[in-house]
Amino acid sequence: MPLIAPSLLSANFLQLGEECRMLNESAADWFHLDVMDGRFVPNISFGIPVISAIRKATKKFCDVHLMIVEPEKYIEAFKKAGADLISIHIETCPHLHRNIQQIKSLGIKAGVAINPHTPVESLYDILGDIDLVNMMSVNPGFGGQEFIPHTLKRIEKLREKIDLENLPVLIEVDGGVTLENGEEIVRSGADVLVAGHTIFSAHDPHAVIASLKKMSRFAIQG
Ligand code: DX5
Ligand code: ZN
Repeated sequence: MPLIAPSLLSANFLQLGEECRMLNESAADWFHLDVMDGRFVPNISFGIPVISAIRKATKKFCDVHLMIVEPEKYIEAFKKAGADLISIHIETCPHLHRNIQQIKSLGIKAGVAINPHTPVESLYDILGDIDLVNMMSVNPGFGGQEFIPHTLKRIEKLREKIDLENLPVLIEVDGGVTLENGEEIVRSGADVLVAGHTIFSAHDPHAVIASLKKMSRFAIQG
């Protein structure tokens, strides 16, 4: 059973309190919070004050995805804002190991996010130090994009490596997750499904979250 992490990027920001309440009452496990700086990615989203406000509106695990350059400058501020996990991009961190240690020294979980074109192998020497890989399945920057099919092979490869070394690292898949492709993604080895557009554009978000949660890694034998 995957963990479900709705991305609030697709929430109605005029009713953020109501959206948080909806997620609190749903089967969602985490809140996925996408921070964009207009430099690493061609878009700007929300930042520290908005995350502090969301933190006060939920007890659920807050998974903060930093799509920003020089994340080391802001890691402490995001932890203070209420992050339970911070993911930073491998592409923005020449000193990734140091930055991961910085996150862990604050007593929270650390993740590494990876763009669709960056080789999975580039994660191998950091896997022993992290709690999660955020496998981007779209080019980061926008919600509501289409899932890049090649990601399935990348998930399988990473799953194999993590299982082979018996590491406690979760694979999160981020971007273009739908009710149609969710099961295939989970079967490829995903532990956490992020979904923005699929959840927040739905007539019945509770039902969508519950259906995503039921996606199973193993085909039901009939
Ligand atoms: C993309 C973000 C994702 C995205 C997911 O840059 O990291 O979290 O908002 O949204 P959907 O599910 O709409 O692709
Ligand atoms: Zn994200």
